[in-house]
Amino acid sequence: MVFFFIMTILAIETSCDETAAAVIEARGGMARPRFDILSNVVSSQVKIHRPFGGVVPNLAKREHQKNLIPVLIQALKQSGLLKISKSKFLISKQILNSKSQILNSILEREEILKPRVFRFLKKYRRPGIDFIAVTRGPGLAPALWPGVNFARALAFFWNKPIIGINHLEGHLFSVFFQENKKKNFEFPAVALLVSGGHTQLILMKGLGKYKLIGETRDDAAGECFDKTARILGLGYPGGPAIAAAAAKIRNPESGIRNKFKIHLPRPMISSKDYDFSFSGLKTAVLYLVKEIKKSQKLLNEDIRSEIASECQQAVVDVLISKTMKAAENSRVKTVTLSGGVAANKELRRQMADAAGKKLPDSLFLIPDSRFCADNAAMIAAAAYFQHPKKSARDWRKIQADANLRLA
Ligand code: KG4
Ligand code: ZN
Repeated sequence: MVFFFIMTILAIETSCDETAAAVIEARGGMARPRFDILSNVVSSQVKIHRPFGGVVPNLAKREHQKNLIPVLIQALKQSGLLKISKSKFLISKQILNSKSQILNSILEREEILKPRVFRFLKKYRRPGIDFIAVTRGPGLAPALWPGVNFARALAFFWNKPIIGINHLEGHLFSVFFQENKKKNFEFPAVALLVSGGHTQLILMKGLGKYKLIGETRDDAAGECFDKTARILGLGYPGGPAIAAAAAKIRNPESGIRNKFKIHLPRPMISSKDYDFSFSGLKTAVLYLVKEIKKSQKLLNEDIRSEIASECQQAVVDVLISKTMKAAENSRVKTVTLSGGVAANKELRRQMADAAGKKLPDSLFLIPDSRFCADNAAMIAAAAYFQHPKKSARDWRKIQADANLRLA
């Protein structure tokens, strides 16, 4: 039996285009953990990457380096943990000098971040936290490294343990960030993880005992939305744009669907495995748009909304069908939905509905919408459950790994 103590955790996340820091206070066991989120700060780079229609890795690296200190300061301030070094200023300056060689080597490749870290450490005292958690992968290597090196520098300077976290495990544990007063979380569980980079069905047999039972063979669900939105000229990021366009259908009886034959495939919905494939959906939209433009030249707002709605429903249908099948076949006690795409209202509503009907005895968990997209609170939650396992505590051992796998 593993006991979990009250822990104050500082987490850093920079796997993609959000610079995030959070402080959470965690207690309780896996069945019903309690997380008090003291702060959860996310600085999005979406405006910077928008003109490129996707995340540009080196721009992300630069922005993370600029944002990490302000985001950390805000996270510590909101948690009441930001304390200026006042009278101890001279002493901390001495300590800084003695540690500066190692700090310099940790931050060697983070040229923009390095002087900012020195200024920060000179000015503020060590906060009252138990340990530091940082996302070490998967993600974009140039984005991951500034976060990892920043966390290593803090762990070294403050002499705190550090734990490297799998970003996907963070999403898995984000499901605890919601009101769940009814049932306990119990294994085995099936988790559908849907984001811009991943579409995976994971069988969770126990803490850290994960089996990947299905995944996309090409595009992720979020990627499908992003690409489809681009074809339809709906903007970036595509997921929220598709959802907004779909919600705008003015007259459901207008007959637009039949007139323009707006029907999209549900790829692999009947295949016997738990895999997905979404790239054909985007191609089908491309052909459909070409056909429509040929016959009537203009892709007006009503038609775009109808296509967005059909695309969203096609993705939702496949995701729900495979998840329910996996949950039934594995006789799970808990089903979870997480990742950026889990913010989609239709997916949330229809999946909750399906779970209620098909799996009435299982617990169904989705995080509150604000915890679906990348954030650091979820990294802290995953770290809380790792902590008793005494995984890497030494800052020297933490490395970013862009291709880190969950199972
Ligand atoms: O988890 P996340 O923030 O980042 C990754 O780890 O990928 O997921 C981002 C993805 C993007 O593809 C975005 O378009 C999608 O989640 N997304 C949505 C919604 N909000 C974000 N997809 C559908 N509906 C939404 N409301
Ligand atoms: Zn993510």
